[in-house]
Amino acid sequence: MSLDSQGDPPDRRGLAKPVDLSDEFGKYIGKQVSYATHGIHRYPAKFIPQIPGFCIQKYSKVGDRVLDPFMGSGTTLLESYILGRHSYGVDIHPLANMIAKVKTTPLDPGRLRASAEPLLEAIRSDGSDNSALAPEIPNRDHWFKPEVLADLATVKKHIWGMRKGDQQDFFKICFSSIIRKMSNSDSDSLIPEVTSFRKKLDAQGKTSFEAIPKFENTVRNKLLDAEELWRVSKHVEKEYRGAPSVSIIGKDAREISLEDSSVDLAVTSPPYASAVHYVSVHKLEMFWLDLMPDMAHLDGQVVGTSRAYVSEYRPWEPKTSVPELKAVMDELVETEKKSAYIVYKYFEDMRRNFCEVNRVLKRHGVYCVVVGENTFRKVRIPTYRILARIADKCGFELEGAFVYDVINRHLDIPRWNDSRIERDHILVMRRRRNPTDDRL
Ligand SMILES: C[S@@+](CC[C@H](N)C(=O)[O-])C[C@H]1O[C@@H](n2cnc3c(N)ncnc32)[C@H](O)[C@@H]1O
Repeated sequence: MSLDSQGDPPDRRGLAKPVDLSDEFGKYIGKQVSYATHGIHRYPAKFIPQIPGFCIQKYSKVGDRVLDPFMGSGTTLLESYILGRHSYGVDIHPLANMIAKVKTTPLDPGRLRASAEPLLEAIRSDGSDNSALAPEIPNRDHWFKPEVLADLATVKKHIWGMRKGDQQDFFKICFSSIIRKMSNSDSDSLIPEVTSFRKKLDAQGKTSFEAIPKFENTVRNKLLDAEELWRVSKHVEKEYRGAPSVSIIGKDAREISLEDSSVDLAVTSPPYASAVHYVSVHKLEMFWLDLMPDMAHLDGQVVGTSRAYVSEYRPWEPKTSVPELKAVMDELVETEKKSAYIVYKYFEDMRRNFCEVNRVLKRHGVYCVVVGENTFRKVRIPTYRILARIADKCGFELEGAFVYDVINRHLDIPRWNDSRIERDHILVMRRRRNPTDDRL
């Protein structure tokens, strides 16, 4: 693995050539891409723990503070904890916040098992029809068979009957992780979708809709993950003389509720322009977990959203001094003004995030950002180069970069809409000064 021509923008005026760290990362990466609670719940475009792990070890020291402003399921937070760093996570998505919390909260396995057994017994022996407790989901019968709705409602009734707290959240995440599998949706689709392929499998009796045994198995498997996290936490406490703190703070990566110059390192994998519809991916789980916010509002706040109103983009004219972005705008704006606006807004939001991270980072702190090349409406978006330019405006120097070939897909849901993103670049940007330009 090495940086290809992407590592060397043709027009490099004012931009430093990054050091290629790909070989060093290649040696670090190892084979095991999931351990402890990293696999506690599916999450779109989750990164392998070695990406934050490598950055944390290389650019921070024990006791430092690490931020992930697009935290997702909390991979950076768990790696920071294991490596003895305090961490802060920000995400707009309510389910992401819940997964990250459960992923990073060690629970005494003896006590957890002692709660699990009566919970599972109560669910197994509940003979009543609990269908009326199922949430109101638009088109509910399209998504769930009546007997599945009744069984899921039974599971929910008993989890929600527990005392509120960390243990209950653990069981909620176990419950959430079976929702999609028990629905009529194709399990391989990114967004829930009832496909003819799935219908065929159902007709051939090749799918199981036994929600209660499924929940039981899931709890047993996730108890093993929780046990591993507990063991890790004991080691961490001994090694670092106390547990590092994990804080899930605020909601928006463009407005982070941290003091100026308060973190040593930031590591993140931000969304791509219009690549994953984060709100729709987990909508079934969100209904069952009572996390359903105002969907349209949430979607409007997501960086990389494909939601855009005519009233916004009709009067809008793209203005940018970034040559690579200008080229994309020139190509898109004639035929696809809405798409041009979506891409432009994405980079403007990323500019706001870079400047905000500049503010909260200490002097000479590092920001590591995962970026993938993608195409949108058949126009190639050189995300890497555009973000490198924006980094410069926001006071960062592109110090290094490395690549990661996204081949291990069993952990993740693929990152694509109309084209696959096959190769990730990780930009290593060092804070050199305050932002010098507040425009794209
Ligand atoms: C690629 S995912 C991060 C995955 C994460 N690295 C992991 O391993 O699970 C990007 C995340 O950005 C979040 N996001 C989108 N817009 C946001 C915003 N305005 N502020 C904070 N988070 C946002 C999405 O909800 C999503 O969880």
